[in-house]
Amino acid sequence: MLVNGKPYRTVWLEGTNPPRVRIIDQRYLPFRFVVETLEDVASTAIAIKEMHVRGAGCIGATAGFGMYLAALEAIRHSDPLQALRGFAEQLKTTRPTAVNLAWAVDRQFQVLEKAGSPDGWVAIALETARNIADEDAHSCQEIGRHGLPLIQEVASRKCAGAPVNILTHCNAGWLAFVDYGSATSPIYAAHDAGIPVHVWVDETRPRNQGARLTAWELASHGVSHTVISDNAGGHLMQHGQVDLVITGTDRTTYTGDVANKIGTYLKALAAMDNGVPFYVALPSSTFDWEIADGIHGIPIEERPAKEVTHVSGLVSGACGEDETTLQILPSGSAASNPAFDVTPARLVTGLITERGICTATEEGIARLFPGFRECSSHSALQLATPKT
Ligand code: MRU
Repeated sequence: MLVNGKPYRTVWLEGTNPPRVRIIDQRYLPFRFVVETLEDVASTAIAIKEMHVRGAGCIGATAGFGMYLAALEAIRHSDPLQALRGFAEQLKTTRPTAVNLAWAVDRQFQVLEKAGSPDGWVAIALETARNIADEDAHSCQEIGRHGLPLIQEVASRKCAGAPVNILTHCNAGWLAFVDYGSATSPIYAAHDAGIPVHVWVDETRPRNQGARLTAWELASHGVSHTVISDNAGGHLMQHGQVDLVITGTDRTTYTGDVANKIGTYLKALAAMDNGVPFYVALPSSTFDWEIADGIHGIPIEERPAKEVTHVSGLVSGACGEDETTLQILPSGSAASNPAFDVTPARLVTGLITERGICTATEEGIARLFPGFRECSSHSALQLATPKT
């Protein structure tokens, strides 16, 4: 997508001998646009863990490039395969919920392990990382193509010129992927096709990905939007001000349960109560083909309490504007910070994927992705248990 007229992805390669890995450091948005170079596996792991990059697809693609950096480092070790396995584990343990992370690392590890001699690892890892990133961008573009008719259909029932009101939670935009985004991709497609759209953007406490990132993205693309507090969505739905909800997801079970940013479940409940369609957009890399019960099976990240006890924002001072952090709770109060929740499949109207739209059911998903479940492996476990 364009940033000040220049096309960017969230993670990319630059230069030669060897190509360097660059990311947009999203911690500084929307106030500053900062690009970071990932020098090695350690800095890649920090970038994922501390959310310089975030969002399932973006984390996965960054981890894919991290495995390219891992290959560069591992071939200098006396036991390259053992070193590679360690780097893979290091990357996979950075964040637990988004399945794209393990998916990308496992894909790289399996390809490199199969290649045998470490001589070709760097070239192979580079190509695989590029493929992961390109596929992510392509899938998201296709999600836009398949989701567009949903918005067109709502628009056709409205008075001419009246906007289609779409509510979204967190940031499932291009910043959460390599390009285009999942939930935002149909929105960008509709906007670009001249359909009037207006987006209700949940601020998404505590990290405020909606207020900081989705709002910035939509503004940059000229899409009409309004940031609302996280608790406002139900009220808007009761008053007919939401036509559609579209969210992203960090992991969706093969039965259709959806893990997404904390608060998504409450939006799905409100949508069901008010007859508002609730769609979830995802590339197939976000399916977990091994977990059936999302509520009991999907690991939910618990993030630092400080994200709840403090808020960050821009302050104006004598020397200009700067970002600062303020405490908002009494010093003695405990805080808890589960970062994701699970929306049961029964509350999801449909899944928008790169292959089309399906119901959030085992049958619907299997029809679009035949054979995927059978081909998935428990490579995470294999990785954790070194071969003897
Ligand atoms: O904690 P984050 O910012 O990595 O959260 C992930 C998300 O961006 C959202 O849950 C999003 O809706 C999922 S779509 C990649």
